[in-house]
Amino acid sequence: MTIPTPHISATSADQIANTVLMPGDPLRAKFIADNFLTDVSEFTNTRGMLGFTGYYNGKRVSVMGSGMGIPSAMIYYNELFAFYDVDTIIRVGTAGSMQEDVKLHDIVIASSACSESSINDNLFGNVHFSPTPDFELLLKAYETSNKFGFTTHCGQVHSSDQFYNDMPKEVFQNLQKYGVLCVEMESYGLFMAARKHGKKGLGIFTISDSLVENVADSAENRQTSYTNMMKLALEVAPE
Ligand code: HPA
Repeated sequence: MTIPTPHISATSADQIANTVLMPGDPLRAKFIADNFLTDVSEFTNTRGMLGFTGYYNGKRVSVMGSGMGIPSAMIYYNELFAFYDVDTIIRVGTAGSMQEDVKLHDIVIASSACSESSINDNLFGNVHFSPTPDFELLLKAYETSNKFGFTTHCGQVHSSDQFYNDMPKEVFQNLQKYGVLCVEMESYGLFMAARKHGKKGLGIFTISDSLVENVADSAENRQTSYTNMMKLALEVAPE
């Protein structure tokens, strides 16, 4: 395949930085570009999936939406890694807490992801491969998040194939019992794509809702906590 790819309209790999921050929502990508980056240029808007490149404190970085769920996000992860020479993708997203001590607005950094997704069913025979992020990037994000004073958890996340999940109660309870921190919908795909291409992936989340507590979020708190996550991802993004 050559560039532009079917889903990204950038005509040259130079238009995209080595590191791309990827929220699910393309308008959140625009929010990051508008509020944190200087000298911004848009490199894609195919299907409304906006992507921008700019500078954060002099560091060149890109930001682009991934859409929701592993199938959508993996299209972009694969095209960025394989055809635009991107080295690192950092997912910045929201997640639903599965543990009582993981509270609204806390930061979660994924050390691995589990999923009911079938994307690697035939890749490893009867071995259930566990995709993981880049360790150095994970460590840097964990240390930086603590240094900033954010309440930070690091552990396994569930990348669910369904937002409206009909999972049996026992399955949910087992995931909780075995320490899964929260549910989101893309990181398993990111870590698989990064490993496939020999590149780096990382997933950072803000807890936006809870599956164990009945808590509501105020718009103001939500925005502040998302902003913290964006700053963290921008700080640790490799040049
Ligand atoms: N499920 C899946 N993805 C999510 C959730 C959830 O409850 N909250 C935020 N992202």
